[in-house]
Amino acid sequence: MASSRDNLAAWIVEAKGRIEVRPSEFFMPEKGEVLIRVQASGLQPADAKVAKLGIMNLKYPTILGSPVAGFVEAVGEDVDKVKVGERVVSGTMIFTSGGVAKFGASQRFVIVDAREVVPIGNTAFPTAIATASQTPLAALYAPGALNMSRPNPSPNPAPANGKKILIWGGSSAMGALSICYAKLAGYTVISTSSPHNFPLLKDLGADYIFDRSDNSTVSKIKELFPIDYWFDTISLSSSLTPIRDILDGVKEQVEIITLLPPSMSGGEVVFPENVKTKMLLFRNKAEENQDLVQWMLGKGGYLEQGLTEGWIKGVPAETIGGLGAVAEGIERLHKGVSARKIVIEPWIEQ
Ligand SMILES: NC(=O)c1ccc[n+]([C@@H]2O[C@H](COP(=O)([O-])OP(=O)(O)OC[C@H]3O[C@@H](n4cnc5c(N)ncnc54)[C@H](OP(=O)(O)O)[C@@H]3O)[C@@H](O)[C@H]2O)c1
Repeated sequence: MASSRDNLAAWIVEAKGRIEVRPSEFFMPEKGEVLIRVQASGLQPADAKVAKLGIMNLKYPTILGSPVAGFVEAVGEDVDKVKVGERVVSGTMIFTSGGVAKFGASQRFVIVDAREVVPIGNTAFPTAIATASQTPLAALYAPGALNMSRPNPSPNPAPANGKKILIWGGSSAMGALSICYAKLAGYTVISTSSPHNFPLLKDLGADYIFDRSDNSTVSKIKELFPIDYWFDTISLSSSLTPIRDILDGVKEQVEIITLLPPSMSGGEVVFPENVKTKMLLFRNKAEENQDLVQWMLGKGGYLEQGLTEGWIKGVPAETIGGLGAVAEGIERLHKGVSARKIVIEPWIEQ
């Protein structure tokens, strides 16, 4: 492990502005925080939307990227969940803080909230980036989302419970993890992707896999009714339209969990009265989510067991370079990746 504490980051200078690599301040963790020496950091579609479209009100210059994996460098007061030197992964506070740069993942040292830090054992840092998201767990198991039955922490799926979930977009980073978790909990999974990603979805455990662009997919999924849970991990008109068509003629109340607000997700797709879309806005500090948060992020919890034992499956991680590659990563995400988690390794010299 290098001993230098000189920090370096990929800064975005302003909304929709250029990205440049230059030094950043080194911060020590405050109460309830952890300082991580970053070995791998993720870039996600939200980073591309901020960098290319300026979708959020952030304080600039700032540092994008989430989640982050590396070694614990220091812990703040009241933190006993992890120890210095431990290998961990964590979500970041870059968006919830409004862009405070010390919380962005695309740098060599980052401050995170201890509640989000999870030990990963010997799992490779890029793999941890691809598999550690809280979002799919929240979508499936949060009381304010699908509120499905949680799996036991085990690589062996629970006995089939006879309930079905449609996970539209199974080759997305969020969709792939959702398939894995739903299967482990004993659900029957129906999912969609492009045909070249069918082997991935099969490996994740999907029971029924359909071509997202094939006109016959709507009628084939209709044949699988009843479907108990609906999750659109893409949440664009290209996904909401076929889901609406699948639901055409259904009279019961249906709620579809989405991951984007209507303003960004093809608001032109009109659903009948009985079908509602609900964007996942998971607040891990909300009282109603504390039981779930403890179950997934607590010491020895579901994510820690899954990551250290290596049985959580998602899309493959692709390390594209060091901090100098952040701009390229943003471009690739903006154009759209296929079954890939884009990863940066900030100590690589490029
Ligand atoms: N609300 C939240 O808390 C939250 C959290 C995380 C992410 N998000 C949002 O959720 C969305 C997904 O994020 P992500 O990281 O999972 O995305 P991603 O991995 O970058 O998504 C890429 C995948 O999307 C698939 N895809 C694109 N259009 C599709 C369609 N019409 N039908 C089915 N699949 C389609 C592609 O499939 P093929 O290549 O197989 O065609 C590709 O594999 C993003 O918009 C992100 O901003 C929201």
